[in-house]
Amino acid sequence: MGCSVSGIVNKKAGAALLKEPQAALAAVEAVRNEISIPLFVKFRTGWSPDIAPAVELAKQFESAGVDCLVFHPRVAPDKRTRPPVIENITAIKEAVSIPVFGNGDIITPEDCLNMLESTGCDGVSVGRMAMARPWLFAEWTSGFEPDENIFRDYALRLADALDTHFDPIRALKRFKLFTVYFAANFTFGHSLQSKFLAAKSMDQVREAIHKHLRPGMQLTKRPNMNLYST
Ligand SMILES: Cc1cc2nc3c(=O)[nH]c(=O)nc-3n(C[C@H](O)[C@H](O)[C@H](O)COP(=O)(O)O)c2cc1C
Repeated sequence: MGCSVSGIVNKKAGAALLKEPQAALAAVEAVRNEISIPLFVKFRTGWSPDIAPAVELAKQFESAGVDCLVFHPRVAPDKRTRPPVIENITAIKEAVSIPVFGNGDIITPEDCLNMLESTGCDGVSVGRMAMARPWLFAEWTSGFEPDENIFRDYALRLADALDTHFDPIRALKRFKLFTVYFAANFTFGHSLQSKFLAAKSMDQVREAIHKHLRPGMQLTKRPNMNLYST
């Protein structure tokens, strides 16, 4: 219930459910009744800056048997442009006794620690950076050191995975969706992204990967926000 993209919200899915808390709760209860594995519920502040409805919903999710809440403290109309209101993670954390994970704009391990320390949350959930650099979990927690070809290898593996699981048109579409976060890693991200967007097939994607993802490309310290905020 964190997605506020119009294609999702117009179908009354994603963050739209936060406009109808009873429907949100019914969906969670239905899932809870069907599964025995841990159930995490991800949600946002809602559609107005007032945190009270989200706090109320958090308590209801807990009563419904949810194991963990993942909270993104932004209102739904704000896709990801203004900064998250991280004090609101504390408001959710204090309202329930199940674990609460914070989410929003985590780029570095220091951002993680800041969120944990300043909000009292139990864990942190990483979105776009996990697409930009999926190895960052290993890097931050167990000292993994990526080699100089990791971006190329990642892009090739992603292309193969998409080819395996999707038809050629969807595979290409999904690859292009991912490139925006991937390209945000680099100082010349816009020009890199335009190379991928020009590809008309997955073979052309692979050609672009081999041609343009070279060792030693200049990385940005923080992602290029013009790309990253899409
Ligand atoms: C491509 C994309 C797809 C997303 N899909 C969902 C989704 O299905 N459900 C959801 O709750 N949030 C979704 N989100 C929002 C993220 O989970 C996350 O809350 C948001 O990007 C902020 O965290 P971040 O700064 O770590 O990216 C999506 C975000 C992106 C960029």
